[in-house]
Amino acid sequence: MHNSTQQIHQVVTVGLDERSYPIIIGSHVLAQLPQHFPALPKQLLIISNPTVAELYLPAVKQALAGHELVVHLIGDGEQYKSLQHYGEVMDTLMAWGLNRDCAIIALGGGVVGDLAGFVAATYQRGVAFYQIPTTLLAQVDSSVGGKTAVNHPDGKNMIGAFYQPLGVLIDTQCLSTLSDRDYACGLAEIIKYGIIYDAEFFAWLERHANDLMARDTTALSYAIARSCDIKAAIVGADETEQGVRALLNLGHTFGHAIEAHDYEHWRHGEAVAVGMVMATQYMLQQQQFNAADAARIVALIGRCGLPTQAPIMPEHDWRSYMLRDKKVKGGQLRLVLPTAIGAAELRMVKDWSGVYQAIVATTHD
Ligand SMILES: NC(=O)c1ccc[n+]([C@@H]2O[C@H](COP(=O)([O-])OP(=O)(O)OC[C@H]3O[C@@H](n4cnc5c(N)ncnc54)[C@H](O)[C@@H]3O)[C@@H](O)[C@H]2O)c1
Ligand SMILES: [Zn+2]
Repeated sequence: MHNSTQQIHQVVTVGLDERSYPIIIGSHVLAQLPQHFPALPKQLLIISNPTVAELYLPAVKQALAGHELVVHLIGDGEQYKSLQHYGEVMDTLMAWGLNRDCAIIALGGGVVGDLAGFVAATYQRGVAFYQIPTTLLAQVDSSVGGKTAVNHPDGKNMIGAFYQPLGVLIDTQCLSTLSDRDYACGLAEIIKYGIIYDAEFFAWLERHANDLMARDTTALSYAIARSCDIKAAIVGADETEQGVRALLNLGHTFGHAIEAHDYEHWRHGEAVAVGMVMATQYMLQQQQFNAADAARIVALIGRCGLPTQAPIMPEHDWRSYMLRDKKVKGGQLRLVLPTAIGAAELRMVKDWSGVYQAIVATTHD
């Protein structure tokens, strides 16, 4: 069914001077891909995975009738974000003789987007790149801001580049097929934007938590657009993370420790959710955070189907995992800490015992 309401979409611009690009957000916008991106060249390589391709590749192919399409599928999972699978995509590009005028389209979650972006950044020193993110996390986080990468066996995202797409198309309809867990992981990053940057958005999330849990498209479109807006503003101010972009790591230093400790049972968004509670708890203990606002943070995270307590882990493990963080400088832990709902700071933290106390207070007993 096509009625006029389905044509409504929002546009967020990522402002990076001559590299600025639009993020188109709406329901059923997949079918309008060429209208939104009229500069798409004739030759296109679509990178996706079998799960997403089965669901959404037919619609994309239909929208792109008239283009020369090559499709390369990588397997479904973080392990496919590797140099080996990057190499296989390069083999496909070479085998089909795609030239510098081609464009790469990423159709999928953050794994596909990160790998496809790195392919686009490096094939013949850079070709046009478009993103069609299909997970909530990719729509509000990984598709915005130009970080691309593959993993090294010894470290996540160790090989990569900053490379901005020419456009991002977000179809909220794609989220109807996402698992509850993957959906909640995207909500964790959305809540993060409210905490670090926008008290009013945080209050909006509190009012609309039930709508979001029901995947109401109107509420979702707003939450996604506002999240992209905030990430775009931060990236526009600090593309290569010399300063304010670090605030996007709220909860991530704690979260990475949980992920490193128990990779199998914890998703990134779940670990970040607990990490945001820990960062808030730390500030509460320092008497630098309002108790009622701390309770609001924990309550919203819980209502969004996310955990608020960490698994039991030895103090030594917490410490060594957290000191591996990219923000550590000269052996000093630096944490993103909320100062109020809507504001956060990157701070050097000298007292480990205070940090550990916050961890213990946020752990299952
Ligand atoms: N570049 C950045 O700035 C940035 C930021 C955050 C995360 N990341 C990266 O993103 C990756 C995680 O992304 P993710 O959470 O999207 O994981 P993912 O890409 O693995 O997707 C999660 C699962 O959802 C499936 N899926 C995707 N779209 C679907 C849909 N519409 N319906 C049903 N299933 C669907 C996928 O096949 C996969 O099984 C990590 O590699 C992380 O490093 C990058
Ligand atoms: Zn994250």
